[in-house]
Amino acid sequence: MDYILEVKNLKKSYGSLEAVKNVSFQVRRQSLFSFLGPNGAGKSTTINIISTLLSKDGGEVTLNGESGETYFRNKIGVVFQNNILDDNLTVKENLLYRGSLYINNKKGVLERYKELRSYLQFTEFENQKFKTLSGGQKRRAEIARALFSNPEILLLDEPTTGLDPETRKVVWKVIGDLRANKGMTIFLTTHYMEEASEADHVVIINKGEIVAEGTPSMLKEKYSKDRLKIVATDKEKLVELLNNLGRDFKKISDEYVIIVQNADETIKLLNCLKPFIKQFEVLKGSMDDVFIEVIGGNNHV
Ligand SMILES: Nc1ncnc2c1ncn2[C@@H]1O[C@H](COP(=O)(O)OP(=O)(O)OP(=O)(O)O)[C@@H](O)[C@H]1O
Ligand SMILES: [Mg+2]
Repeated sequence: MDYILEVKNLKKSYGSLEAVKNVSFQVRRQSLFSFLGPNGAGKSTTINIISTLLSKDGGEVTLNGESGETYFRNKIGVVFQNNILDDNLTVKENLLYRGSLYINNKKGVLERYKELRSYLQFTEFENQKFKTLSGGQKRRAEIARALFSNPEILLLDEPTTGLDPETRKVVWKVIGDLRANKGMTIFLTTHYMEEASEADHVVIINKGEIVAEGTPSMLKEKYSKDRLKIVATDKEKLVELLNNLGRDFKKISDEYVIIVQNADETIKLLNCLKPFIKQFEVLKGSMDDVFIEVIGGNNHV
């Protein structure tokens, strides 16, 4: 199996708080890897260690089997949770300066800058000071910064949080293109479950420990349930029949919601309830269900 990034028994504490306890995972080359968890789970701490911004207390991080800051430098691009570009410089000044840290001739830096400018479509605000940009424009500039060295792996810490749906789509399109056409490995943390459901592999972390991992479909199979929603022709009779069948249900607005295990069971149930059904809908389990099931409801930070 070809893994680009391997994290073994990673540990990090801040004083007495164990933010990352003993975390191990592997990221397959050219995959979209999604790292999920509630606020304070340890996601940014892990990303900051991988990107060599933060030191670890224990464990190992290897890229292509190698370790060490110098080796990682040009091979990892990171979009941190908080923007890091200089507020008082324009987008262009920021990126040309950052670019000169990777490419040591002016012409090369400018060429790469132009490539990224058209790729992330920021010509219209390239001469604006970073601090005057909107949230979505800032994220695009930060992604351009992270891509400057044309890294093998791009780490994105909540790249789409707080963006409007249209800007989220632009960012998501770039992520999709990097992966599909440029062969880049993408490591993503997000709180949007529909984004996570596109990943090849998902790791869920809670309180510094991995609590579940697998492909989205494996996780949905294990932790989520399909639901049958029914609008009744005769509510009383439907309820009576459900009680007779010993089926639990919830009434939400004018719908009766019943958990179902599989298609076979759903068809049988629909046949039984048929005389009292006005409308029905079967909702597939989602990554939202997985997240709630795995994390539980007692995680408010
Ligand atoms: N520099 C720091 N000093 C002390 N505690 C910290 C520091 N950075 C993070 N922590 C704590 O470590 C824990 C993990 O934080 P981290 O930022 O890694 O979480 P996260 O999963 O990225 O959360 P979020 O989804 O809110 O970004 C939290 O309890 C946080 O308060
Ligand atoms: Mg974070």
